[in-house]
Amino acid sequence: MSLGLVQAAYIIAALLFIMSLAGLSKHETAKAGCWYGIIGMTMALVATIFGPQSEGTIWILIAMAIGGFIGVRKALKVEMTEMPELVAILHSFVGLAAVLVGYNSYGLSHEADPVLQNIHNVEVFLGIFIGAVTFTGSVVAFGKLNGKLNSKALMLPHRHKLNLAALIVSALLMIVFVHHPDNIFPVLVMTAIALAFGWHLVASIGGADMPVVVSMLNSYSGWAAAAAGFMLSNDLLIVTGALVGSSGAILSYIMCKAMNRSFVSVIAGGFGNDVVTSSDEEQGEHRETTAEEVAEMLKSASSVIITPGYGMAVAQAQYPVAEITAKLRERGINVRFGIHPVAGRLPGHMNVLLAEAKVPYDVVLEMDEINEDFAETDVVLVIGANDTVNPAAMDDPNSPIAGMPVLEVWKAANVVVFKRSMAVGYAGVQNPLFFKENTQMLFGDAKERVDDILKAL
Ligand code: TAP
Repeated sequence: MSLGLVQAAYIIAALLFIMSLAGLSKHETAKAGCWYGIIGMTMALVATIFGPQSEGTIWILIAMAIGGFIGVRKALKVEMTEMPELVAILHSFVGLAAVLVGYNSYGLSHEADPVLQNIHNVEVFLGIFIGAVTFTGSVVAFGKLNGKLNSKALMLPHRHKLNLAALIVSALLMIVFVHHPDNIFPVLVMTAIALAFGWHLVASIGGADMPVVVSMLNSYSGWAAAAAGFMLSNDLLIVTGALVGSSGAILSYIMCKAMNRSFVSVIAGGFGNDVVTSSDEEQGEHRETTAEEVAEMLKSASSVIITPGYGMAVAQAQYPVAEITAKLRERGINVRFGIHPVAGRLPGHMNVLLAEAKVPYDVVLEMDEINEDFAETDVVLVIGANDTVNPAAMDDPNSPIAGMPVLEVWKAANVVVFKRSMAVGYAGVQNPLFFKENTQMLFGDAKERVDDILKAL
């Protein structure tokens, strides 16, 4: 393949990636967005593998076959609820790749122009730094998300000063390296510092802020890929890395806004861990109901809002939920969904599940679009959600989730909470909603209970 053809393929692939991101931002166009991404990536791979610069095509194909086999197996097996862990570990690979590319291109490139050589050395240094931070940060995030590591924030003394010192020492090492590029020692020391820095950065972030961490690491992995693109002089990798890096950063910002956290304090770590955590003790009497009673209540309602959460995903209750929605809508009842931006365990988790079960998009509303309507709603079904409907976020300044905007379900005439026990949600705080006058608990697996209601209807 000639160089011109490769460049043309890269430009088309870059455009397809931009169209893919644009497509993925809306339900209706998300599928098309996936296809643009797939076609773009295929073009990019073919152009890179068979382009004039490629050497050892056979080795690339063998590596791709092994990687592809493992990837496909993993993707087929992964549960939707394990998706964030999978994403985190995949980010760690991007980081590790950037480190390896960095070390490799350190030894290989010898520019004739000293200025260009300096620029190249800075690229190598930064690429290895970002890659190493992304690598260990993602490994810790993986461990915290799948429960292998404690999700509590690690609170080392002087943690902010440690972070700052790591950055300053790394910057000094970069200056030394650029002046003495033949000496690899500064790069080795920086790599060790960056690995420890990435580890500490994520270890010091508490469980409640994990959604932001996942998208933040997504952004880092993009910058690591962009850095690798500079080292390899591959324009498409630079563009793609920058797209991933900036979209990850925008997503982190959106998540921070959704949880009323400041971006800087989440990244600096330990935010919200100094407050006295409110207890997870029960706060009064709760009342229970049955599937038959809920079915009767739904039949006589004229407006219903369903607020799903992580429990719906665990129980895979989205299919019977979609059936109930269709049944009630046939009866002329106004049924809508209220989706909290951090419901579930990954951005858009609930939207994906509901789309999978073919719930019409126009009844699935974002929190801001529906929050004012709860007061005029007859019945709210809280299906496996907990933190995202917790009034303590608004009423209790000492709560770990204080200040996070929540779905104000308690304003409705009747609230039914589907869960298996009185256990707490992800943030580990008790939910005063369960003890309110207008709340009734429907205990059991969400899918089984929704099936029971479906039968009774
Ligand atoms: P959570 O607060 O996590 O609560 C889920 C509830 O579902 C639990 O209280 C659990 O109660 C119930 N449940 C579990 N399995 C169930 C089953 N089979 N049937 C019925 N109920 C079941 O959920 P949420 O309201 O969606 O909030 C999400 C939380 O995750 C937030 O704190 C958010 O910050 C965090 N988080 C979000 C993300 C993103 S990006 N969305 C990423 C990481 C963390 P029982 O055990 O009593 O059944």
